[in-house]
Amino acid sequence: MVHSAKKDRILVVDDAPTTLEVLQRNLTSQDYQVFTAPGVPEAIKVLDTTPVDLVITDLKMPGASGLDLIRHVRENFKETEVMMITGYPTIESAVKAVKTGAEDYLTKPFTDEELFSAVQRVLDKLHLRRATQPPLTQSRTASHYGLIGESEAMQKVFSAIDKAASTPATVLISGESGTGKELVARAIHYSSPRASAPFVPVNCGAIPEELLESELFGHVKGAFTGATETRAGFFQTADGGTIFLDEISETSLSMQVKLLRVLQDKEVCMVGSTRPRKVDVRILASTNKDLPSLVKKGVFREDLFFRINVITIEIPPLRERGDDIFLLTRYFTTKFAEELGKPIPGFSDNALQVLRNYHWPGNVRELENVIQRLVIMTDGDLIEVPDLPSLMRFSALRETGLHRTLAEVEAEYIRNVLASVDGNKTRAAEILGIDRKTLREKLKFPDTDRND
Ligand SMILES: Nc1ncnc2c1ncn2[C@@H]1O[C@H](COP(=O)(O)OP(=O)(O)OP(=O)(O)O)[C@@H](O)[C@H]1O
Ligand SMILES: [Mg+2]
Repeated sequence: MVHSAKKDRILVVDDAPTTLEVLQRNLTSQDYQVFTAPGVPEAIKVLDTTPVDLVITDLKMPGASGLDLIRHVRENFKETEVMMITGYPTIESAVKAVKTGAEDYLTKPFTDEELFSAVQRVLDKLHLRRATQPPLTQSRTASHYGLIGESEAMQKVFSAIDKAASTPATVLISGESGTGKELVARAIHYSSPRASAPFVPVNCGAIPEELLESELFGHVKGAFTGATETRAGFFQTADGGTIFLDEISETSLSMQVKLLRVLQDKEVCMVGSTRPRKVDVRILASTNKDLPSLVKKGVFREDLFFRINVITIEIPPLRERGDDIFLLTRYFTTKFAEELGKPIPGFSDNALQVLRNYHWPGNVRELENVIQRLVIMTDGDLIEVPDLPSLMRFSALRETGLHRTLAEVEAEYIRNVLASVDGNKTRAAEILGIDRKTLREKLKFPDTDRND
């Protein structure tokens, strides 16, 4: 047997809940780390956020089949093996599974021993390959649970994720829009001991105030007009797992009181019921606003802030991640080109420089959208500066404008300062450290400033 230092990670995919449960229990007893998914789309989500050594999938499932999943794994993950379980022991289905890229298959019914020895056989092969081969040429950029980045700023985020994953503490994830807050939340969940239970994201800003409570906590039949039956909320769905309260700053003060109670007592009350029920849910929250200043303004409860802010992960904006922009550019270019079945275009050095200098107010999401558009629009094999959005070219020119004269730079700076003080020349002169007369001369403006 080839030993490996860490626990092997197995993803079991089956639409029958009982099969999932049995396989999970048996494999966990053999010291594997086991994830489950009730279908192919859910399995793909897990694969996107967590490295898996072996996928064990049922063949027949409603919607996409086990064969589709095998194909997906073979085309996207070189370091993951697949094993097929089939209830239809025909030669064709087995042959097809193996041809598509399954390493092995099991026909139902099988004994625990048959399962264990098949799993061990496949994993041994994988370990042997890893041990004897140089690392496979990487077609994909290395990522930390789907997060691309090698900059120091992102290394800090990764180690914070690892620490957060190993404790049950509440985590506040802050960062500008599009920096990857949800991806970080998923990474924490999928690398935590709760990984095999649900991860439930709730966008607090998108759900109307009057619906949020019943969406979160559920409601009993007759709780309000239209509540024709008792329905579970996100907290019940997430039981045993993690709930991600996205944009928590958008909740009302009264909702904040209710959330505080859940955090303190670990129980929820369904709307229309007075009986609290215990829930075992880990809470992660995100914000793109500065919560401490909202606390000062009185629109966010201080006690709730302290409760959620046990661990804080601050995600740096893209412009502070240095060359990560290039890694992400390559990653998204490859991804979209493959999706569209186009050859993967390159970037000219100048174009890359423009991307590097741009301010990226929308962060990774903005970069992803820009690259997607470029890949769709471009027909050549090289993306050059004129192909980039004009907004970006203009700002790049400004920032890398090493061809400009001092006078041009000075004039622009003065105009920017003036704009920032609404044209008040006295204030502008103060900021610039010159007197108003000099300022007027520099601008050669008639003195029509009424703010003075
Ligand atoms: N480091 C990264 N590597 C790869 N993809 C990333 C990274 N960070 C973010 N993304 C991608 O960028 C997009 C935005 O990420 P995400 O939704 O997690 O950001 P967010 O901070 O929650 O954004 P918003 O504030 O708009 O809700 C997603 O498509 C995500 O997959
Ligand atoms: Mg988000």
